[in-house]
Amino acid sequence: MVYQIYPRSFADSDGDGVGDLAGIESRLDYLADLGVDVIWLSPIYRSPQDDNGYDISDYRDIDPMFGTLADFDRLLAGVHDRGMKLIMDLVVNHTSDEHPWFVESRSSPDSPKRDWYWWRRGSGDGAPNNWGSIFSGSAWERDTTTGEYYLHLFTRKQPDLNWENPQVRQAVHELMNWWLDRGVDGFRMDVINLISKHAGLPDGTVHPGDLYGDGSPYYANGPRLHDFLREMDEAVFAGREAELLTVGETPGVSVDQARLLTDPRRRELDMVFQFEHVELDQGSGKWDVRPLELVDLKGNLAKWQYGLADVGWNSLYWNNHDQPRIVSRYGDEDFWYESATLLATVLHLHRGTPYVYQGEELGMTNYPFRDISEFRDVESLNHYRQAVAEQGLDPQSVMRSLRAMGRDNARTPMQWDDSPNAGFTTGTAWIAVNPNHTWINAASEIHDPGSVLAYYRRLIALRHDDPVLRDGEFELLLPDDPTIYAFTRTRPGSRLLVVANVSGESCTLPFEPEGDVVIANHLGPEGADLRPWEARVYRQEAGHG
Ligand code: NOJ
Repeated sequence: MVYQIYPRSFADSDGDGVGDLAGIESRLDYLADLGVDVIWLSPIYRSPQDDNGYDISDYRDIDPMFGTLADFDRLLAGVHDRGMKLIMDLVVNHTSDEHPWFVESRSSPDSPKRDWYWWRRGSGDGAPNNWGSIFSGSAWERDTTTGEYYLHLFTRKQPDLNWENPQVRQAVHELMNWWLDRGVDGFRMDVINLISKHAGLPDGTVHPGDLYGDGSPYYANGPRLHDFLREMDEAVFAGREAELLTVGETPGVSVDQARLLTDPRRRELDMVFQFEHVELDQGSGKWDVRPLELVDLKGNLAKWQYGLADVGWNSLYWNNHDQPRIVSRYGDEDFWYESATLLATVLHLHRGTPYVYQGEELGMTNYPFRDISEFRDVESLNHYRQAVAEQGLDPQSVMRSLRAMGRDNARTPMQWDDSPNAGFTTGTAWIAVNPNHTWINAASEIHDPGSVLAYYRRLIALRHDDPVLRDGEFELLLPDDPTIYAFTRTRPGSRLLVVANVSGESCTLPFEPEGDVVIANHLGPEGADLRPWEARVYRQEAGHG
């Protein structure tokens, strides 16, 4: 089980309102008790923090806001002492515009690092092509030093590296080796499937209602992606004795592409984060929010289970620092405990490596945003500005989408206790604390056997103990049922049956489940009737109905 920490929101040791490495260190026992195997740290490198650290200006140093390299070494030792591992976020599709590589690159068309980034002359009096940035506006910024434009798929302070240049790739390999030599156990690779762009950078289609073209067919899963990853394996991972973990963030990836990326024989990545199941409540794009249909969700996850059953490996996640909180999104806050634990049950019973994002194990919810001034995230702020000022959309409807989908929902401080700053900081938190920390918090859940936290602990222990959970074959039952989520996991001699009622009304299973209940989120009678948001897992002899 991998636990993701978003360091700026996890635990603040020095009262400056921002989480830090010493804060994480002070909570390692909490993570070990939960059953964490691997910790993934969102970026802690030196950064101007335009995108909260996903804009790196020095890959070999810690941002002073988070601490020092000595703090890092202490943290890593503490992680290893407890039998856990630690992986770093590797953000190498782009750097910060304040990284010395870019500073040098932008200085002159003759700079030896000019070709390390994507510089192009404008076409006519505009950008080189029509691509929109993933964070609103054009993907090109005109630089006044030379009058040329540089490509930035994210903010203008995140220029894209040109991976076609072998020196760039070598520089990335060197920094990866530097961290592995320091003792880290692998990497989560940020938007790694965007590193190979199609030559020529052709215009993208402009979809109805959009201001810019969609360049993703020309920058996602590009022609040299697999070559670049295999070269990375040779230069960085091959020959290392330690067990390392790599997971690539790959928006827009298909099952077929994921099979190639995660086939161990190809030596590219251990697993990828696909996005399909967290886009099922969206229409034309992220901000076009629609209700989720359960049939779509279970059908989609089943497609990934079947698709990666014989080759490759799945990652399993509901949450991360970019996604709204799952209990508010696919669950029901009126059935807070039941829906948080049901969602955990179905996810963790699938085959693959489960990821838990900080606070998910407490059942943390979305924040009740009322006003745009409460948001901190550059994606949300840029979207609001573009949608309201440039496209003339109704501010209230834009706020509604931001409230549902905004990334700051995930980034409010970790809720440690019921004190005014939730035990996160003694100072003023950089982003508001969710007012529900008075009753959703670690201190109150830790000794309560009926808490969401206790349930996660039991679920994680079950995964550690049970081989059928690790490699049992997956089969979806009742695929067309609009409220029942049911499936089995089977290996020779043993089977688990999962049944869950994904609704606020009682329902009746079309069969009477047999076997012993190994975990369930309701106590009491176990017939064919399921109470609202009830989830149960039965152990059966393989062959049982
Ligand atoms: C994906 C990261 O998860 C997200 O937080 C970031 O803004 C973009 N990549 C750009 O690095």
